[in-house]
Amino acid sequence: MSSSGHMIDHPGPVSWSEAARREIDAIFAKYPDTKSATLPIIWLAVREFGWISPQVEVILGEVLKRPLNEIHSVVTFYTMFPQGPLGRHHIQICRNIACWLANAPELMEHLVAKLGIRPGEVSADGRFSLEEVECLAYCECAPALRIDGRYEGNLTREKIDRIVEEAR
Ligand code: FES
Repeated sequence: MSSSGHMIDHPGPVSWSEAARREIDAIFAKYPDTKSATLPIIWLAVREFGWISPQVEVILGEVLKRPLNEIHSVVTFYTMFPQGPLGRHHIQICRNIACWLANAPELMEHLVAKLGIRPGEVSADGRFSLEEVECLAYCECAPALRIDGRYEGNLTREKIDRIVEEAR
């Protein structure tokens, strides 16, 4: 995950499925310029491989015909691209200024105690993973988090308990 600062390898070699290759062609047909095709193709890789590992960066570089360091900067710039295996429910909690001022650090500690994992970890049962991220662009409802792509704001300990219970 991005918060841990380094990527996790896939256990073996990775390669595109036939279906993914067809989707890549379709994306290039829609965005002939590789720069605009970059994000849709990285998303396709997330769907295909679960997360972006160094091996996946290599095949992204081949497809997009861009140097590895460029691919790596795009992948690590966006917090939404997972860089390691995730739990079935992935929780991203914002640590940026509006959320920080609205008590996010204490809520993060609450979540850490509740799930028994720290940011960058996956729970032993594989159910939850946790990540600290920069602004989720939901500052008007700070403190905020995102779970499985859904936004939740105006967090309190009670609201976090409810979100976790509902996801269990
Ligand atoms: S600072 Fe947390 S959502 Fe913007």
